[in-house]
Amino acid sequence: MPSATPLKPITGMLKRRIIRDLAVGLGGGYVIAEVYWHYFDKHLKRVDDYYAKHGRLGSAQLLSACYDGDCERARALVAQGAEIFVTDETGRTALHFAAASGDVDTVRYVLEAGIPWNALDVGGFTAGDYAEAGGHDAAYDELVQAGIRAEMVLRLVGAEPAAAGPGGAANEDYLSQPVEYSGDKLVDAENNGVMMSWEAPLMELHARAICAKPGGAVLNVGFGMGIVDTALQALQPGRHVIVEAHPDVYRHMKSEGWDAKLGVHIVFGRWQDVLDEVRALGPYDGVFFDTFGEFYKDLAEFHTAAFAGPCPLLRRPGGVYSFFNGLGGDHKLFHDVYCRIAAADLGRLGIDTEYSRVASDVAVDEETWKGVKRPYWMLKCYNLPTCTWAAVQDGAGAEDDAAPQDAA
Ligand SMILES: C[S@@+](CC[C@H](N)C(=O)[O-])C[C@H]1O[C@@H](n2cnc3c(N)ncnc32)[C@H](O)[C@@H]1O
Repeated sequence: MPSATPLKPITGMLKRRIIRDLAVGLGGGYVIAEVYWHYFDKHLKRVDDYYAKHGRLGSAQLLSACYDGDCERARALVAQGAEIFVTDETGRTALHFAAASGDVDTVRYVLEAGIPWNALDVGGFTAGDYAEAGGHDAAYDELVQAGIRAEMVLRLVGAEPAAAGPGGAANEDYLSQPVEYSGDKLVDAENNGVMMSWEAPLMELHARAICAKPGGAVLNVGFGMGIVDTALQALQPGRHVIVEAHPDVYRHMKSEGWDAKLGVHIVFGRWQDVLDEVRALGPYDGVFFDTFGEFYKDLAEFHTAAFAGPCPLLRRPGGVYSFFNGLGGDHKLFHDVYCRIAAADLGRLGIDTEYSRVASDVAVDEETWKGVKRPYWMLKCYNLPTCTWAAVQDGAGAEDDAAPQDAA
């Protein structure tokens, strides 16, 4: 139906009026925007002044430059006074952000500026976790190198290592208090897990690594739940020496008849105190070490006692050594640093170390640690060490590789 009031054509005066109204509107908008930006600029300056006064100049920008992997910008911000030791609300440091970017220069710069390689955020994640999540292998390796350097410095000044501490109570305290066997675990007086049955598949692999054929002599330091010893027995060694220091564990071993097993010798005492007796029963074709409440330095001392000197515990050549590799087992970055340090230390004693990566087919999760004070293993992959005498280089030496008791 046609409109009752037909539209007038836009002509002449009406057209001019529309153009004028538009101009006035746009002009007004322009003026309002100018005034707004003028005050907003002033506001931004006040914010900057506030942060400068409170020592937080550019901290958010710094974290963001690290996240962008923009090393030059991060460097410039710090030169202008930005604080490097800042964290965001989840405790992430500049190193976490740099690691997430994957840029090696930024990671290196932030480390040099002083952020510790082993900083944890509120969730307990290391910078290594962020590098790994992004698939940034080179950045991850940079963090491992930084960890090795830092631990070497601690060693030089005689301090305890930061990343591979004890699993619970120190050894002497642990040995002076009762332990309890309860179902699938052995716990100490403070409910720390001394040994747990989830480790059984790993113990099977350790046993096979050190006892390749029947009839040989094997040594195990630390009985615990007897899992590795049971696996060793199944492989029929000719002589099987077990060192155990805890009186309750020793009693338990006897109650299970271990002292009556053919070829089994129990040496009761701390390995540190009974080495002569253990040595007299050697040398061994296979040696396994898994104690409790000891530091990395104790493990390193065992290595020196076992491999250096004129009468090593391990038969030379041909002997195979392994140890429970729980070093830094609650953080992958710490673990990787200590795997490298242990291999380097063993290398200095003439021992080659190879780590086989064992994907944990047992789910070690929060459920596993229910009722246990402190989880000592939270990683998905276990690095099983197989250690053998390094071949003596031609012309290097003095030592005859075939002599069973030569110095390492
Ligand atoms: C983790 S458990 C060993 C578990 C064992 N691998 C298994 O398969 O069941 C550690 C054992 O080492 C013993 N131990 C701790 N310190 C020791 C020391 N200095 N010398 C000898 N044994 C020690 C503990 O009493 C405990 O029985």
